Amino acid sequence: MVLIDRVPTGIHGLDEVIQGGFPKGDTILLTGTPGTGKTTFALQYLVEGAVRHGERGVYITLEKSIDRLEARVHPFGWDLKRLEKEKKIMILDPVIKTEFGEDPVEWLQSKEVQKKINAFAPQRVALDSLTQLLQYTREKGGIRRGIKTIMDSYQLDATALFIHERQYGGIDNVEYTPEEYIADGIVYMQLIREADEYHRGLTVLKMRGTSHTLRILPYIIEKDGIRVKPSSPLRITKSGIKIRF
Ligand SMILES: Nc1ncnc2c1ncn2[C@@H]1O[C@H](COP(=O)(O)OP(=O)(O)O)[C@@H](O)[C@H]1O
Ligand SMILES: [Mg+2]
Repeated sequence: MVLIDRVPTGIHGLDEVIQGGFPKGDTILLTGTPGTGKTTFALQYLVEGAVRHGERGVYITLEKSIDRLEARVHPFGWDLKRLEKEKKIMILDPVIKTEFGEDPVEWLQSKEVQKKINAFAPQRVALDSLTQLLQYTREKGGIRRGIKTIMDSYQLDATALFIHERQYGGIDNVEYTPEEYIADGIVYMQLIREADEYHRGLTVLKMRGTSHTLRILPYIIEKDGIRVKPSSPLRITKSGIKIRF
C-alpha cells in the first residue's frame, strides 16, 4: 500500500482530524468570510513548516504591507522578519497597478517571479488571496482556466494553500464557486450565530485521499494561533446552535 505523505498544518487540533495533515503536493482551498482567520491560518501553516519542519514557505499577499503584517502576527509569537532573514519564509507582496493595465496573474507567471519562487524551492506556498488575484486579472478563457493556470504555474512539490474570500457565510446554503471544484481539498471557516453572539466553526469539506469528519468543529483564535477543538460539541438545535468549548 502506498501511503499519502502528510504535511502537518500547525493548526492545533486540525491534523488529528485529517490523518496527520494535508496530502503532500495538494492544493487546498481555504474559504471563509472576512475575519474568520484565513490570513492567520495561512501564516501559521508557513511558520509551522519553517520552525518545526525545516520547510521553506512562500507567502504571496496582495493586501497588507509587510510591516503591518509582521506586527499583526507578532502577538502569536511568529517572527516573520527573522524567518525571512533566515530564508525560511519568502514574502511576495507585489504592488500591481491594475489601473495601468498591470495584471496579477501575468505578474505571478512572469519569468522573474517564477524564477524567484523556483530558486527558493518552497515546500509550502500560501496565496492570500486567490480571489483578489482573479478579481483583477484579464485572463481570458474563464475563471476555471485562470485558476488552473495559477495552480499549474507552481508545478512543484509544494503543498499550496489558496485563500478564497467568500461573500456569504451561512451554514445551510453554501454556494460553491468554480475555485472549489478544482481544489484537492477545501477547508471552510465560518462564523455561526448563537443568540446574540457569533462563534467560529471550521469544516473540512473535502480532502483528497483522506477520511475526515464533516462536522463543524469549533475553533478559537488565541495567543498561539488558531486552535480547533474537535472534541467539543457544536450542536445545532431547532432553537439555535449550542457551542461548548
Ligand atoms: N492576536 C490575536 N489574538 C486573538 N485573536 C486575534 C488576534 N489577531 C487577530 N485575531 C482575530 O482574528 C481575526 C482576523 O483574522 P484574519 O486572519 O485577518 O482573518 P481573515 O484573513 O479571514 O479576514 C480578527 O478579526 C480577530 O478576531
Ligand atoms: Mg485575510
